[in-house]
Amino acid sequence: MNSTGKVGFGQGSGNKEKIVVTSKEDIEGRLYECLKNHELPDYLLYTDTGGAKNWLKLDGSETFPVARKLKVLLEKNLDSIVRFIPTGMSLVSVGVGNGEKERIFLEALVKKNLAENPTSGKVSIRYYPIDINGEFVDIALEKVDNLPIEKEGIVGFLEDMAILKKNWRLPVLFCILGNTFCNYEPEFILQLVHENLEQGDLFFFDANLLPTEGSDAQSARKSVLGTYASRENALFNMYPLLQYGMAPEDFDFELLLAHINSRIGTVYRTRKSLYILKNTELTVGTETIGFREGDVINMGFTYKYTYDQITAFLDICGFEILKTFLSEDCTNAVVLAKKRIEK
Ligand SMILES: C[S@@+](CC[C@H](N)C(=O)[O-])C[C@H]1O[C@@H](n2cnc3c(N)ncnc32)[C@H](O)[C@@H]1O
Repeated sequence: MNSTGKVGFGQGSGNKEKIVVTSKEDIEGRLYECLKNHELPDYLLYTDTGGAKNWLKLDGSETFPVARKLKVLLEKNLDSIVRFIPTGMSLVSVGVGNGEKERIFLEALVKKNLAENPTSGKVSIRYYPIDINGEFVDIALEKVDNLPIEKEGIVGFLEDMAILKKNWRLPVLFCILGNTFCNYEPEFILQLVHENLEQGDLFFFDANLLPTEGSDAQSARKSVLGTYASRENALFNMYPLLQYGMAPEDFDFELLLAHINSRIGTVYRTRKSLYILKNTELTVGTETIGFREGDVINMGFTYKYTYDQITAFLDICGFEILKTFLSEDCTNAVVLAKKRIEK
């Protein structure tokens, strides 16, 4: 997905560096192309200063506790998770956001490293916070400023993992946190990660699951729609259109929950659309895009899996699960996996 192929070095302070694989101009170009084709993929909701604020506001809102609950689950099981991470691994986190989960993780890894080498007083950990929004990379780097680790931020797309990985020191603990795993087609993301991880690497991700325990399909749907169709989430999804010049009354946001057939059976996936209610224009950079009443802009999606569906996908895509942690109500999971050694 890298359109420029250019790798530039941004500002670095001390042992902090930032590599820019995808520039702001690239992203703006993509926004223009996507909107022209009546598409608004989810990554465009997070771009620029406004996009960073947009996500942090949603993440802090009472009606959208998805990423926050996953943080609680990580904190609760931190000691057991860290026991599985060999000393000296680099931590790579794609879609790092403000990097607060990574700070928690790294503090525990530093402690473990120091306990294992008490005389040296040194730790050998490298941290690579990665995001398509460079402002998030800066925030994530700042967050670990006082930790005795090496840091290198990267601005780029997860989809460019083959390019990003050229910067990493192996072995890596490769993280995708904040339910971001569920924003991708399952076999696409698992194949991408499988192709680009080496045998000694580990894969760590979290997911907000479809509520199943003690609830019928209808109440499960209601609970998912309650979260995703909240006013706060609607505003989050409308942000780019508002940012580039539309008024709230110019369009409607719709969210549905659809059944999708997959290799492992039927799974649930949200479907989001923006309906244009009157003829209007948007200006992106130097370009103008016209919309007509009745146009529909197709948006990104979130899969809502059960825990068994996630394990089935991992299995068919060649992963072995090392450890899983489930919340008490079984609606959140963190998974530590590695590439299966095929005989
Ligand atoms: C749902 S937020 C999760 C943030 C954080 N990991 C957390 O747990 O709170 C998704 C993050 O992924 C980033 N992102 C979205 N699409 C991406 C992509 N294709 N490649 C890299 N980062 C992406 C966004 O900018 C945002 O910071």
